[in-house]
Amino acid sequence: MSRNILITGGAGFIGSHVVRHFLRNRPDYTILNLDLLTYAGNLENLKDVENQANYFFEKGDIGDAQKVKEILEKYQIDGIIHLAAESHVDRSISDPLVFVRTNLLGTANLLQCVKAYWKNDFKGKRFYHISTDEVYGSLEMDGSLFTEKTPYDPRSPYSASKAGSDHLVRAFYHTYGMPCVISNCSNNYGPNHFPEKLIPLIIHNILQQKPLPVYGAGANVRDWLYVTDHARAIELIFHEGVDGETYNIGGHNEITNLQLVEKICDLMDVKLRRPQGTNKALITFVKDRAGHDLRYAIDASKIETELGWRPEYTLDQGLELTIDWYLQNENWLQHVTSGAYQSYYETQYKTD
Ligand code: NAD
Ligand code: DAU
Repeated sequence: MSRNILITGGAGFIGSHVVRHFLRNRPDYTILNLDLLTYAGNLENLKDVENQANYFFEKGDIGDAQKVKEILEKYQIDGIIHLAAESHVDRSISDPLVFVRTNLLGTANLLQCVKAYWKNDFKGKRFYHISTDEVYGSLEMDGSLFTEKTPYDPRSPYSASKAGSDHLVRAFYHTYGMPCVISNCSNNYGPNHFPEKLIPLIIHNILQQKPLPVYGAGANVRDWLYVTDHARAIELIFHEGVDGETYNIGGHNEITNLQLVEKICDLMDVKLRRPQGTNKALITFVKDRAGHDLRYAIDASKIETELGWRPEYTLDQGLELTIDWYLQNENWLQHVTSGAYQSYYETQYKTD
């Protein structure tokens, strides 16, 4: 079975790993990456695979019905892996409407265009929405976990927009019989992570000897997953997941933000040959995030027992790999902070 797959948001952090994973593991597939190249889109993430014959890139907005219709037809798309989104909680607090436009209206437009293109012929088709554990709200420090049955309780504009898009996907499954599947994943980290998010920001600031901002007392807990483990889970769910189902994905790696930042400081003291404690001295407690969710933690037993997925990397292993990647790719970081990455499309791709 060969497939023509549309990956939305493939120039972003997780999307670029998913594109690479499919190009490596499914050479018989055609992969089309549709991405608007917002501030978070970076085609330098895909330099190593951009010339592969079965890979195509289209710059465009998931909310643009004309563009989406055109590419569905042009590439005869029979599978969608939808990652395009506004993804940063802090930005959603200062500018919620762009999250509603992209995550909610954009997803609605994509669903509607795909439904019209597939014309109720759903055999061999699949629409897969990549979502977040943040739709479930916030846990207490009581050992409880998010399961697929946890009621939705989103509390930031970001998580509310993702919850809304999950509901729309389920509505298209129940109302029109469109073959849809959803996964809700915990915090990812790894190479190509945009340095507005905690882990790459801390690595970047340590390299620059700048203050390391920790919100509140640093007591909030996140459950971290190395990004290639997520990409493997996505490939598995895309092929083996059951229509109408949801799968939680997480790494069993709960840690407070302060403990995590201290861990990175210690590891980087060693790697940068700085005396132990040098980087920790940069930690600066700053004003807390508004409505800051206390704790996220995933029960991943469904994907583990039903689909046989397990994370390959512990947090310690993943952090080593991540820090090493940033140390070996200072150019990538420099292009992001200078803004140079945003001209890559014009110089490498644009023909007209
Ligand atoms: P990201 O911000 O790094 O990338 C998002 C990508 O979407 C960018 O390339 C951007 O240019 C593109 N995009 C934004 N608006 C678009 C639009 N209107 N049309 C087309 N493309 C558009 O995000 P990420 O961290 O890689 O997250 C990817 C997906 O995974 C998101 O849906 C996010 O909600 C979900 N998710 C992320 C995490 C995480 O920890 N990062 C965890 C669980 C789920
Ligand atoms: O749980 C999955 C979610 O994880 C994804 O859906 C989101 O797209 C992704 O951005 C991430 O959301 P978080 O808000 O958890 O990630 P972030 O890296 O922004 O923050 C992680 C924790 O660190 C959070 O508790 C806030 C805190 N933090 C963050 C920043 C940027 C700080 O203490 N200081 C900071 O400077």
